[in-house]
Amino acid sequence: MMQSGRANFGSKLGVILATAGSAVGLGNVWRFPYMAGDHGGAAFILIYICCVFLLGIPCMVSEFIIGRHAAANTARAYRSFSGGTLWGFVGYFGVLTGFLIMGYYVVVSGWCLQYVFASLMGHLHGSPEFFTNYFQTFEKDPFKPVLWTVVFMFLTHYIIMHGVREGIEKASKMLMPTLFVLLLVIVVSSCMLPGAGKGISFLFNPDFSAVNGDVFLGALGQAFYSLSIGMGCLCTYASYFSKQTNLMRSAVQISLIDTMVAILAGLMIFPAAFSVGINPDSGPSLVFITLPNVFQQAFSGVPIVGYIVALAFYGLLALAALTSLISLHEVSTAFIHEEFHTTRKRAALIVTLSSSVIGAVCSLSLGKWDGLQICGRSLFDIFDFFTGQIMLPIGGFLTCLFVGWYLPHKMVHDEFTNWGTLRGKFFHIFIFCIKYICPVCILLIFLHQFGLI
Ligand code: TRP
Repeated sequence: MMQSGRANFGSKLGVILATAGSAVGLGNVWRFPYMAGDHGGAAFILIYICCVFLLGIPCMVSEFIIGRHAAANTARAYRSFSGGTLWGFVGYFGVLTGFLIMGYYVVVSGWCLQYVFASLMGHLHGSPEFFTNYFQTFEKDPFKPVLWTVVFMFLTHYIIMHGVREGIEKASKMLMPTLFVLLLVIVVSSCMLPGAGKGISFLFNPDFSAVNGDVFLGALGQAFYSLSIGMGCLCTYASYFSKQTNLMRSAVQISLIDTMVAILAGLMIFPAAFSVGINPDSGPSLVFITLPNVFQQAFSGVPIVGYIVALAFYGLLALAALTSLISLHEVSTAFIHEEFHTTRKRAALIVTLSSSVIGAVCSLSLGKWDGLQICGRSLFDIFDFFTGQIMLPIGGFLTCLFVGWYLPHKMVHDEFTNWGTLRGKFFHIFIFCIKYICPVCILLIFLHQFGLI
């Protein structure tokens, strides 16, 4: 079962599904479709795919190389190569970033559970104002969102507690196929609506006039977030890969799955929204206010289909969030388990309890504790902004420099080619991207978002 005393994934399919589970998350559903629709449809999708291939995949492979070679948690992985230099801190920084992302990601995941429950009970119908009020009242409630946050955290805990193979891998093998089935049910129902064609052409009509510098940078940021790059999620999972895993091929497969889910998410949202003439937006208001209204109106002829689609949609979101949260949780659990020499179960419990507290505080900062603000933003927004816009780009940037310029070339080559057993056709392209293209591009988005360029 174990390889040199350390847990590992049991099969190739397990590797792909677990890592794709980390990548496919809320980011695919509530940001990608909107960004594509708003930034030139197919033109954006093409740019996005270029970003994924030229920048996302090299960064993903880099994290894989570090993780698999060290076969340790992210902090120890960086430390073990750093020879006492400051590079060792990059790993700790990644673990901290993951921990903080988890703090607000779990709150939104909890909202999904509430909506699964509400759609199951048939509560989600009324006027457009009803949906706005419903969400705002719920979000500000001092009790319910906190309860769902804690429930979601313990759900994640339950899977993590069972270990890598029996927990993460087994859960991914069940959850990911279910997610695909739900996705297809909604896409088919949405695309069969009268007037759905307008939504499809909105998404796929290339409008090159909408493309400017912002679109490139937006696509790049979205690609990184969606592929879970920049904080050691991929590095931790790669520490459970076997020596036979083809890193480059796995990265390509995972990225293709992630991109396909993002595009399919567009095909579930736009046709339905256009068929009832509602303009979709992005983020929480899209998912929790606009879409329930869209589903209700679009399927008003056959309410049972509307009921099933809404239930399938929130179920899908909850599953996508769960598999991403598992990967975030695992980063901190592996860190505490290995660095503080506690059992895995105890490490998982420490992470679950502490992130439940952070999640609860983040959730309360939107309602009862709304005085809890920094620079006029709620704690929830601060977590989102600070991790996504600041910590992730810094982490990604440092990882590129670390692999491209610091690690011994031979070691990188050995990992890339599985010790010479693979041809490694793309190795030179990979090195070129990771040395020059990726760091420069990440630096550009970073500076651009602060208006510095
Ligand atoms: N990729 C996930 C999504 O699309 C979110 C996520 C999980 C993430 N782990 C991450 C983002 C690590 C950045 C880094 O929703």
